[in-house]
This record gives sequence, C-alpha cells and structure tokens, in this order.
Amino acid sequence: MTAVRVQHDVLQRLIHNIFLNAGFEEEDSKTLADHLVLANLRGIDSHGVSRMKTYMDRVRTGMINVGNHYTVHNEYASSCLLDGKNHMGILLATEGIRIAVEKAEKTGIGMVGIRQSNHCGMLADYVKYAADHDCVALAVTNSPSSIAPWGGKEAFFGTNPFAYGIPTREEYPIVFDMATSVVARGKIRLAQKNNMKIPIGWAVSKDGEPTDDPNVALDGGTVLPVGGPKGYGLAFFVEVLSSILTGASFGPHLGSLYLNEQQDVGQYFLVFKADLFTDMDTFKTRMSQMIEEVKANPRIEGIERIYLPGELEFIQKEKREKEGIPLSAAVVDELEEVASLYGIIPSFV
Ligand SMILES: NC(=O)c1ccc[n+]([C@@H]2O[C@H](COP(=O)([O-])OP(=O)(O)OC[C@H]3O[C@@H](n4cnc5c(N)ncnc54)[C@H](O)[C@@H]3O)[C@@H](O)[C@H]2O)c1
Repeated sequence: MTAVRVQHDVLQRLIHNIFLNAGFEEEDSKTLADHLVLANLRGIDSHGVSRMKTYMDRVRTGMINVGNHYTVHNEYASSCLLDGKNHMGILLATEGIRIAVEKAEKTGIGMVGIRQSNHCGMLADYVKYAADHDCVALAVTNSPSSIAPWGGKEAFFGTNPFAYGIPTREEYPIVFDMATSVVARGKIRLAQKNNMKIPIGWAVSKDGEPTDDPNVALDGGTVLPVGGPKGYGLAFFVEVLSSILTGASFGPHLGSLYLNEQQDVGQYFLVFKADLFTDMDTFKTRMSQMIEEVKANPRIEGIERIYLPGELEFIQKEKREKEGIPLSAAVVDELEEVASLYGIIPSFV
C-alpha cells in the first residue's frame, strides 16, 4: 500500500469499528477512536492510529482487558484512587480526568490517581477536557524505562510526559503537553517504522554514544532527558506522582508496551477551578492580558510569530480537519493488517 491522506471522520469510523469488533462497548470504542484520531489531527502522529497494532496485539494476547471496569479506593471529597484492573489506559485516563473535574466543580480541587493502568496516549486530550470546564489541570503518567538517571547509562525512568491545561477566553485554551525526554520515544518508533533517521541529540546508544539510527536508539539505548539534569528531575517527579503515590509500578518494574507482559502504568491528575482565588472573569481577563503581552514580545530575526503553548497543535488540527490526515505507507499497512483480523476491509476514501 502507499501513503494516503484520509479525512478524519473516515479514519475515526475505521478505528471505532476495529475496537467494536474487538469486543469494546460502543461508548468505549468511540472514546478510543476519538482520542487516537485527535492525536493525528493535532499532528502528534506518534500517539495516533500508528499505535493501533501495538494496542490490538495486547488486547488479542490478553495483556489488556477489554472494557473499563475500574474500582474506586481512598475516596475523599476532593480525591480518589482508581484501580484500573488492567483496562485500556486511554479509557481509564478519560474517566480519571472526568472524576477529577467533577470533584473540582464541587470542592474547588480534584485529584485522581490511577494504578493498574496502561499506556494512555496523548495527555493533551485530558487537560483540554479540564480547561474546557474552566479548570486548570496538571496531568502526568509514567511509561516504560527509556531515560537514564543523569550520569547513568541504563534506562530507568519513562519518557514520563506532563501536561497542563488552562482555560482562556481566546479561541483555544492553553494546552501544553511534553515528554520529559527531548522527544517522546514514540517519535523514534515512528521513525523506525518509516525507515527514517532521527536527529542527533534525541537518543544515545547502549554505550552512551550519540546516534541518528532509531534501531540503535531502541536496542538498549536511552532517550535523553530534556534540558539534561533538569529533565531528569522532572521525570523523577512524574514517576513519584504516577507510581509511588498511586501504587502503580515504577521505573524498570513497569511492564513493556511491546513485550508479552502487563504494564501496571500509573496516571495522576490534579485539577482546580480557575476561580479558586479570584472570580472567573478576572482570571480570564488577566490571562488575555498576559497572552497579548507574550504575543507582542519583540521577535528574533526570522521568526514570524510567537505561539502560545499548544497553539501549533490547534492550528494543525484545523488544517488537517480540512485537508485530511497523512498516513505513511507503513501505518496504512499496519491498519490493514489489524483490520483484517476482525474481517474489516479498510477504506481510506
Ligand atoms: N502516554 C505516554 O506514555 C507518553 C509518553 C511520552 C509522551 N507522550 C505524549 O507524546 C506527545 C508528544 O510529546 P513531545 O514531548 O514529543 O511533544 P512536542 O515536543 O511535540 O511538544 C511539546 C510542547 O511544546 C509546545 N511547542 C512546541 N513548539 C512550540 C513553539 N514554537 N511555541 C510554543 N510552544 C511550542 C507544543 O505545543 C507542546 O505543548 C505528547 O502528547 C505526550 O503526552 C505520551
């Protein structure tokens, strides 16, 4: 098959249908498909439908339970812990942020931890939900070992992303979402899938040597933390919130996404009403003023525009909603392979 450009609703229907045929409930299938296609729409292709083969391999081999039957523990007015019972991380995180927002709307603050979870995809989806409900949100998750402790050469921490969302009166909320590594490891996997090199500075080999070869990076190498020891410090904190606090596995004890083992990933959401210390109107007016001043900053030569955190992804989404989502030949092949397992012949038109 060759590369295609596919309309987002066509792709959403295909992914929805695959999940349905794999035994997921209608609502869960929709949530999963919406999340993955949203990642592609936002230009985060490493966390979009390119993940389908991995997810479905895990579902078929029983490494992930179909459904979303978590249990609630340690519940207080403002916080609770979910035991995810090894269901899809995206479903558990969607539910986790919904509960955190519900608690914030009642008490001002909502905090939800999740243990026994799985890979939850792109964090932006969760913090945007909170921002759309006039809440400020912090979201983190741990992930399989990829980053060495600063000075070490063996992977220990995951690429442990953290994201924040802030409501605004502007066209888009602020949605910042980054791995604490220089890039998400998924981008290295996508480069490997598409037979492309990676920039020097993303990863090192198992001997600690810089590499532009995704195969070398993924064969016992490590991904570099963003900002050196500072990224390491952030990855450390994300690990504590996601796992030590929730009871999920940490560091190298976390199961691999790609091997036949359960993951026990942890997620953590902290959400609070944006009008906790002031009224909403004042909060948003001051946000607008800050945004205006940030945007008006004198630009260095060659820079046409200053973007807000997350703005590039909102612009990309609008573009791809009109022009379609580009899928590489390798991703199309994988989608065809996965769909065929459920008797589905994918159409990309
Ligand atoms: N679930 C997991 O286990 C896991 C692990 C790692 C990463 N991820 C996901 O991978 C995705 C990609 O992470 P990443 O670190 O490669 O992201 P990235 O480097 O593409 O972007 C990081 C952030 O920087 C902002 N940004 C980039 N350029 C900018 C500019 N010129 N001006 C203003 N802001 C700008 C983006 O809007 C974004 O919020 C994220 O969605 C993350 O949640 C998930």
